[in-house]
Amino acid sequence: MWLFDAILWFIFWLLALLGLRERDHARDPPHKYTWPEARVRAAALVSQMSVDEKLNLTSGHVGPCQANTGGVPRLGIPSFCYNDGPAGVRHTDFTTQFPSQSATACSFDRGLVHEVSARMGAEFAAKGVHVMLGPLAGGPLGRSPYCGRRWEAFSPDPYLSSTLSYVAVRAAQSAGTIACAKHYMLYEQVPVCSGPPDDEGMPTDCTQVSVTADGEVTDHKTVKEVYLPSFAEAVRAGVGAVMCSYNLINGTPACQSDNALSRILKTELNFQGYVLSDFGAAHSTAESANAGMDQELEGTVWCASGAGGADTDGDDLKNAVTAGKVSEDRLNDMVTRILIPWIAFGQNDKWHEPSYTRWGLGDAVEIDDRSFVNQHLDVRKKDHAEFVRKAAEQSHVLLKNEGVLPLDPAIRRIGVFGSDADYPTTISGCGPDLFCTEGGRRHWNGTVTVGGGSGAAYAAYIVPPIEAISRRGREAGMRVDHVLRDDAAFFPGIAAVAGTVQMCVVFVSVFLMEGADRADLRLDNDGEALIKHVAGTCAGDVVVVLHAGGPVVMEDWIELERVKGVVWAGYPGQESGNAIANILFGDVNPSAKLAFTLGRREADWPPNSIVRKLPMIGKPRTAFDERLAIDYKWFEAHGHTPRFEFGFGLSYTTFEMSDLRVRAEHRKDEAISHTAEAHVGPLQLYDTLYVARVDVRNTGDRDGGEVPQLYMAYPPGQRQPPRNLRGYDKVWLTPGQRVTVEFPLRKKDLAVWDVVQQAWRVPEGEFTFYAGHSSRDLVLETTLVVEL
Ligand SMILES: *[C@@H]1O[C@H](CO)[C@@H](O)[C@H](O)[C@H]1NC(C)=O
Ligand SMILES: *[C@@H]1O[C@H](CO)[C@@H](O)[C@H](O)[C@H]1NC(C)=O
Repeated sequence: MWLFDAILWFIFWLLALLGLRERDHARDPPHKYTWPEARVRAAALVSQMSVDEKLNLTSGHVGPCQANTGGVPRLGIPSFCYNDGPAGVRHTDFTTQFPSQSATACSFDRGLVHEVSARMGAEFAAKGVHVMLGPLAGGPLGRSPYCGRRWEAFSPDPYLSSTLSYVAVRAAQSAGTIACAKHYMLYEQVPVCSGPPDDEGMPTDCTQVSVTADGEVTDHKTVKEVYLPSFAEAVRAGVGAVMCSYNLINGTPACQSDNALSRILKTELNFQGYVLSDFGAAHSTAESANAGMDQELEGTVWCASGAGGADTDGDDLKNAVTAGKVSEDRLNDMVTRILIPWIAFGQNDKWHEPSYTRWGLGDAVEIDDRSFVNQHLDVRKKDHAEFVRKAAEQSHVLLKNEGVLPLDPAIRRIGVFGSDADYPTTISGCGPDLFCTEGGRRHWNGTVTVGGGSGAAYAAYIVPPIEAISRRGREAGMRVDHVLRDDAAFFPGIAAVAGTVQMCVVFVSVFLMEGADRADLRLDNDGEALIKHVAGTCAGDVVVVLHAGGPVVMEDWIELERVKGVVWAGYPGQESGNAIANILFGDVNPSAKLAFTLGRREADWPPNSIVRKLPMIGKPRTAFDERLAIDYKWFEAHGHTPRFEFGFGLSYTTFEMSDLRVRAEHRKDEAISHTAEAHVGPLQLYDTLYVARVDVRNTGDRDGGEVPQLYMAYPPGQRQPPRNLRGYDKVWLTPGQRVTVEFPLRKKDLAVWDVVQQAWRVPEGEFTFYAGHSSRDLVLETTLVVEL
């Protein structure tokens, strides 16, 4: 009997252990309570609050963080702390500057994005931040190549963006911080500004753009299929907060849109958390509250505490409640929603006070007679440097390689050119936002590792390319010369160095930032001229490295005879130099793929994707007339051949794919939260119905990573783009090794939004599936008639 018990006990523990190991892969947030339990507890707290106490939680107050609410000390509710992401913790020291979302998306690696986000969430939590303002879940998605905030987003492809948004939210919250998916919704450009730049180089006289998609909001096929999926996945991952955006939707500010907030987000997507405003995006008091906005940050309309400024007497929301323009029920709902994630995640009993101040990197500051202290807490994991370097390496895309990379060990003299290889002027820029202002022009000196504005993260150090290449060159017994300048005045010096080396590496960049969309798709500092000059004077071959956060037109120089190698380095974060050195020298085999399209001409992208001028009458408006066809879908639908297509990226080894097959296979959805989206037919919208599989083999002679991709064409007659990404995975293979990759296909992945039925519907007829190495290198094909 004793033995029997012992065996049972053993089996029980073995099963428990195995179960834990499996759960660990995508660990749930450390929920102390389920959301329904948290809702009950939140409501109980709210029932004990006075109106003033409730208003303390719905509005911004002065505090140590980027944004703060007031607290309810009587009930043990602290002032909540909010801080910008999502490339790392902004505004403070001893944190990690991770690769940007636009970079990690190029890894096409859910596991990597999970770990980046989990580590980032842990740093926010350790600094005492209750709510991390990230990830950026599809606002902007990347409709326009000119969008200055594209680098903050994953990808203009809704499938890639939404699947990574799911992973990012779940991982960040697993560290205990509350994630805030932003910017909801249809936020694809900055406002139109007609005034001259102010002293800081910031534009003046700005008006937000009103967006229309598919005419009336009720027919929102484009919204449902393109711009909403990333938010739907964030909600499914259990996101605690959503930030409403600056733009207008059909003439109504997004933060005041009943349709966007109450109907789509809170009802259709069944979002149980709270909606907070982007800073200054609230344009009204009662209308916004009644439309579904739950909290105003930093607080200008509701409580009139200016952006980071002092509290004033004005309390418009209180007046609106007193006057009966906002019901007390609605106020209770707002506060209950705000408290739910805080209670569910157990922040109510284990959180510590914020340990930093957004007001500077010094020891302490006095604001309004209050003192805020920076404890300089080092919140980085011990291996943060190695991890960030690895994440950066896996986000670099090798675009062109005519036998020059990895560097031939026989090469003994190389030259490095361009200011983008150099140290930045300071690691925190010339001010809080990582850019310098000179004569009203903003720029970033030195290597570009991240963009500017609210998506920026403060690094504790930056390894520029010149440092890492010099070190790596020294180890290889090389001579590494350099001219780290871009301006034509240095061209004679550049020619002198280039003429003496066996290989020239040119670093060029595009520094993007919030508040400024791009005027063109060219490089900063006339980088084209630098590349051409080096290509014309180098005694050896030329490799171009681009640090950019959005598309660049390369036609000026890409076909130059000496330009034999091109690496897309994106915004790789603090370990930039080490990552590119390891790729150039072959210590690391590049494995990433473009998460967007690099076209040949600006005219090949959808026209008028940015509104730049105020109209003669009325407010600036834009219609998303290209509907579903953004990025590669537009290029394919219009017969434009890109320079480098979506999904493209080279490796130092080669891969082969074979045997694409699709089989019916039912798998239950494992989301944390379930949406209430309307759909036709009996099966759950997010259940897997089919699984496609393909075999991948490393046919070269080096270890390497490949991204097998699955694209789908709907049955004819659906007015859908020719091909849609519906599966991807990252696999690491040794020479000769073969694996089978799975692409689960959920009902939603096969469905279209039917504007007549106002529901998701899987079309009848024959679907075609393609598998391959990029959106244009599709080597396998099979068809399927879906039977539900
Ligand atoms: C509002 O919040 C502030 C800051 O936490 C706090 O000092 C104040 O007592 C709160 N007011 C009420 C009515 O609880
Ligand atoms: C940036 O670099 C340029 C030279 O390339 C220099 O003239 C300028 O002073 C630098 N700006 C700052 C703010 O360091």
